Amino acid sequence: MRVRRALVAVLVAVAAAASAQVAYKRAWPTLAADGLHDPASPALAILQEPSEALSALPPDFAGNLVNWMASLDGGYIKPRSTVLADTRVTLRSTDVLLKRTGELPLVVFPHRQHTAWLDCTNCHDQLFQQKAGGTMINMFLILQGEKCGVCHGAVAFPLTECARCHSVARGSDAEKTFRNLVRE
Ligand code: HEC
Ligand code: HEC
Ligand code: HEC
Repeated sequence: MRVRRALVAVLVAVAAAASAQVAYKRAWPTLAADGLHDPASPALAILQEPSEALSALPPDFAGNLVNWMASLDGGYIKPRSTVLADTRVTLRSTDVLLKRTGELPLVVFPHRQHTAWLDCTNCHDQLFQQKAGGTMINMFLILQGEKCGVCHGAVAFPLTECARCHSVARGSDAEKTFRNLVRE
């Protein structure tokens, strides 16, 4: 219990630090300086710089500074959904309300946004049970890169964006009128 409480304190501190960035400029490191590409490689000249490619997309203020959901929903990008012609694409639109959040606002897990990018098997049943409330999930696991943390903080928006997951205030109308699946 003490570990949990300390964890929550650290999380809240991280969140405060993240939202304290007041004056914010959207800027990406160049390919030569990103620590990933070899600055001496002749191939750099033919690659597009992130600042050129990403600045055309809807902004975000965390992660790689692009709101990818808005990019997709707004038609700014049209990723190919399959590589092989016979792959069956399945979508789902239920939301699951996750309520084991201590004093924090409740978490909404939205299927529509996830299945727009991912296949069911990316999550089921290895990471999550196909049953609201069936899976043990908590912030400790997530921060260790498990459950939601397999992607968030790695390839999807970072864990410092608490409110994007913890989006429904306790006791609010949004909670009372939530029409999809609730896990107690
Ligand atoms: C990617 C989504 C996501 C983000 C981002 C996120 N959380 Fe969570 N959080 C969850 C989920 C899911 C649970 C578990 C809910 C459940 O099991 O019903 C949870 C649970 C919690 C809990 C309950 C206690 C515990 O240990 O599980 C606390 C406190 C918490 N989060 C704080 C935070 C804070 C503070 C931040 C920002 C620094 C944050 N969370 C960011 C998804 C997220
Ligand atoms: C990004 C991860 C992810 C993807 C992709 C995903 N799910 Fe889920 N799914 C979850 C989570 C998280 C829950 C809630 C689990 C819990 O509460 O223990 C859930 C719950 C469910 C449930 C029970 C609640 C409900 O909505 O009825 C079903 C059924 C389900 N998923 C089916 C699917 C199917 C079918 C697909 C593909 C079309 C899919 N899921 C894609 C993460 C995912
Ligand atoms: C297999 C990868 C994966 C897992 C696991 C995963 N997510 Fe996501 N999530 C994504 C991607 C990809 C996006 C879209 C890109 C982005 O917003 O960064 C996304 C977006 C979201 C969004 C934003 C929706 C919007 O409209 O902007 C929320 C909220 C979210 N995830 C919550 C969760 C929660 C809560 C969990 C765990 C219960 C979870 N995710 C697990 C990959 C994942």
